[in-house]
Amino acid sequence: MAVLVTGGAGYIGSHMTWALLDAHEDVVVLDRLSTGFRWAVAPEARFYRGDVGDQTLLARIFEENAIDAIVHFAGSAIVPESVAHPLAYYHNNTANTCALVEAGVKAGIGHFVFSSTAAVYGSQHGADPVRETASPQPESPYGLSKLMAELMLRDAAAAHALRYVALRYFNVAGADPRGRAGQSTVGATHLIKVACEAALGKRSKIDIYGTDYATPDGTGVRDYIHVADLIEAHMRALAYLRAGGDPLVCNCGYGEGFSVLQVIDTVRRISGRDIAVEHGGRRPGDVARIVADPTLARRELGWMPTHQSLEEIVETAFAWEQHLARKNSYDLARPQIRLV
Ligand SMILES: NC(=O)c1ccc[n+]([C@@H]2O[C@H](COP(=O)([O-])OP(=O)(O)OC[C@H]3O[C@@H](n4cnc5c(N)ncnc54)[C@H](O)[C@@H]3O)[C@@H](O)[C@H]2O)c1
Repeated sequence: MAVLVTGGAGYIGSHMTWALLDAHEDVVVLDRLSTGFRWAVAPEARFYRGDVGDQTLLARIFEENAIDAIVHFAGSAIVPESVAHPLAYYHNNTANTCALVEAGVKAGIGHFVFSSTAAVYGSQHGADPVRETASPQPESPYGLSKLMAELMLRDAAAAHALRYVALRYFNVAGADPRGRAGQSTVGATHLIKVACEAALGKRSKIDIYGTDYATPDGTGVRDYIHVADLIEAHMRALAYLRAGGDPLVCNCGYGEGFSVLQVIDTVRRISGRDIAVEHGGRRPGDVARIVADPTLARRELGWMPTHQSLEEIVETAFAWEQHLARKNSYDLARPQIRLV
């Protein structure tokens, strides 16, 4: 049987594809390459370029491949962008997920792993760390678009032969410890990626959005999870579903928070470079602090993180950023080589 990875050309999906191949799974990737890259897809995976909302293409993929599980990463994931363009977010994260679930149900695919987000919680005012039993209060169209998809999955699972795990990721960062994948997003907004870019001179400075939050140093506090541990949670979720596990919604984070300033200091220390910062105002949709209670994933999925270290996250992210810098200069140099 094969696993369909949507968004497999993106940051997290490309790691999942490698992990599945490492586990000798057959992998099919569907990606429209809006933010992802064809070169980021492991060569052994079968690749379809297209939209997860395209029912005709989905029917063809399910016909051409013996798929038993869908791992759905494809989506739009920038909170401020969702505030500016809410309908685009409801379209891509909610309506397109609906189309994918519908096509999967029609094709009799029983296992679905969904990329949800801590943004479904909003600021929980005192619930710290946050558990899955907390009442979701999304403060951005991004969070709400994902929450709506979770609820759709819940109802579809009650009516059809579909079981799912929705993983609510906290702040995903870092890169494949073996150096095969990392975050390559153009114009990324994720703090660790942005700080690594600044350390390498790809940006002149980084902006800190909000220095007056009710946190120890005034900057936002987040739970940063290494992408390798996040992928392990997906592999566990897949095994759980294949073993007959019931629908499950669970957090993917470590239960430990770091502030923006702590993260920037760690990137400075590990890269050995200075990073210029500019203090700006708060961004709409951002919350002061959000940290996961990871108990449920550990108990139900047997998930045991092995990369829980901000240093390791930053080391792998920085190594990937250096790799990208070399790759870009190689790509730039190639036409000149051809001319010679
Ligand atoms: N990165 C994080 O910290 C984080 C946190 C919480 C949740 N998530 C979720 O994880 C998922 C993956 O995030 P990422 O950081 O890898 O983002 P990404 O932008 O690197 O990857 C998304 C991939 O999906 C593709 N895509 C988008 N819409 C598509 C569509 N309609 N049809 C086909 N392909 C489409 C893009 O081309 C890209 O390759 C997203 O759903 C995101 O909401 C990410």
